[in-house]
Amino acid sequence: MLKIMPKIPKIIDSLYIHFPFCAHLCNYCDFYKKVPTDKMQDFKNFHLYLEESFSIHQNLIEKHGYSWAPLKTLYIGGGTPSLWGVEGSEFLENFFKKHQIQLADDCEFTLEVNPGAWNEEVLTSWQKLGANRFSLGIQALNEDMIKYLDRVHTIQDVHETLQYFHDHKLNYSVDFMLGLPFSEKLNRNVIEELSSALRCKPSHFSVYILTVKENYKFYSDLPHEEWIADEFLQVSDFLRQEGFLHYEVSSFSLPGKQSAHNLNYWKSHTVAALGPSATGFLSEEKLRYRWIPQRPEMVFEELSEEEFKLEKIYMAIRSQEGIRLSDFPEKLSSLVLEWERKALVTQQRGVVTLTSRGYLLLDSLMSDLFSSKLL
Ligand SMILES: C[S@@+](CC[C@H](N)C(=O)[O-])C[C@H]1O[C@@H](n2cnc3c(N)ncnc32)[C@H](O)[C@@H]1O
Ligand code: SF4
Repeated sequence: MLKIMPKIPKIIDSLYIHFPFCAHLCNYCDFYKKVPTDKMQDFKNFHLYLEESFSIHQNLIEKHGYSWAPLKTLYIGGGTPSLWGVEGSEFLENFFKKHQIQLADDCEFTLEVNPGAWNEEVLTSWQKLGANRFSLGIQALNEDMIKYLDRVHTIQDVHETLQYFHDHKLNYSVDFMLGLPFSEKLNRNVIEELSSALRCKPSHFSVYILTVKENYKFYSDLPHEEWIADEFLQVSDFLRQEGFLHYEVSSFSLPGKQSAHNLNYWKSHTVAALGPSATGFLSEEKLRYRWIPQRPEMVFEELSEEEFKLEKIYMAIRSQEGIRLSDFPEKLSSLVLEWERKALVTQQRGVVTLTSRGYLLLDSLMSDLFSSKLL
């Protein structure tokens, strides 16, 4: 007898919103952002952009049979979202009401905050809306590094921000950068900087190696590759000794404090996106979309079955989700064994995950895997 399979509802319970304004443009940054020329008018235009995008987005998701569910994760990234201010939290409150978007009771709601670009009134208004996790763009706790990075804040702003988040017992992550110009010459001590941040009890660190093009102002002052690799491994060892899990290439968390929003990307789940240059993914449709900045319009990328499979592997191996050996041809085992011998991966109950050294070499491992034609 023909069995009728129940249809699994296609829901969206994860949303990213890109806020595209910054007080100043840092010299290394490739994200889409601009400095407002007329703040009131620019924010008004941005709100219009979001409104217009929403109805386009609604058409798209309805066409593919999706509906909104109470959001389990909401991430406001940038740019510098803390500059959106009280006005931003009020706009979003009305926006969600109008479009009947609810936050689940246990929604992880993250707001990116830059030192020197927030105040208590702003934070309180976002907390009232539901923000319960903050990502602080600290980058360095060294005066020289902050200067070379061309940040608009001072080291005092960094300390004051960390102290405030500590004193108010907020759940927050710290963005921290490695491989910075002059750091080898000046013998930057990242462990000392991280120890200082740790005194203010963040629950999470995102640690990025600076990536720039050849025309970068300080290109010839960047440290050597081996020096950066050593810096990365030192940071991983140190944070793991301090009780953090190195659970994704760039991410370290206290147990239970992983970023649920980012885990959705690494598990190739559906994540909706709004805001100029933001990227969303309808997983069941294998459909990626990106908002173009000039006007509320999307460009699409439809993944083939094969591309989706490769992407899923790439995303899963970059986090402790890992890949299940039984999902792959037997021949893959020999490649994995070779990686294991080199201490680049570990295996537990058939699940292969990267070690810190493996994270560092992720791109070269993936290129070995994809060129081996074992998939
Ligand atoms: C979306 S950005 C915006 C965060 C915030 N505006 C700030 O600058 O602090 C998120 C993070 O990406 C990292 N990042 C930005 N540009 C980078 C680059 N060229 N290479 C590596 N990491 C970068 C920084 O750590 C930054 O905090
Ligand atoms: S504040 Fe952040 S998003 Fe803005 S220019 Fe600097 S690095 Fe880029």
